Amino acid sequence: MAFEKLEASQITENTIAMIRDRWPLLAAGTSDDFNFMTVSWGMIGELWFHDAVAVYVRHSRHTFQYMENHSQFTLSILKPGFEQALSIAGSKSGRDINKTAATGLTPVVIDGGIAFEEAEYVIVAKRMFQSDLDYKAIEDEAIIKRAYGNGDPHRMYIGAISSVYRQK
Ligand SMILES: Cc1cc2nc3c(=O)[nH]c(=O)nc-3n(C[C@H](O)[C@H](O)[C@H](O)COP(=O)(O)O)c2cc1C
Repeated sequence: MAFEKLEASQITENTIAMIRDRWPLLAAGTSDDFNFMTVSWGMIGELWFHDAVAVYVRHSRHTFQYMENHSQFTLSILKPGFEQALSIAGSKSGRDINKTAATGLTPVVIDGGIAFEEAEYVIVAKRMFQSDLDYKAIEDEAIIKRAYGNGDPHRMYIGAISSVYRQK
């Protein structure tokens, strides 16, 4: 493992493409008890005097409990070639299966957070804020129908980025 520590502002990737197209793994918990899932909705920027990251987790996700119970979370952006693992992490629940075994990924602890050896980038964040998104306030009705027809709301977690790592 050869992770190199960076400042968040040294991420040279297009962060929209990094989240939307590369599908980070969002993980929370401890090395003994953690869960992770694929996400593609999120934002990286600045808020409240910190480099910050926002993720949106539906209440139905097993990962939700871990986001509630742990104030730290990570995003691991995997190297190319792990699409199958991302599909499994994004369609199966840690409630039903051992996702580490099913994906074949290798968890590593980085700055106290759970990340993956297969990552190109790891973003470690400390929760600053959490709140359900009041989806009824979305101005476009079509989005409400499409995203919340199932009545399963997202909780937004905004974390201060505490460290970023990259490996080749
Ligand atoms: C490409 C992709 C992006 C996803 N993005 C999100 C997301 O941003 N928020 C969310 O709550 N679920 C998202 N999901 C769904 C979860 O990853 C999926 O429900 C997962 O099985 C939850 O696992 P868990 O129950 O172990 O937490 C996404 C799934 C995929 C395939």
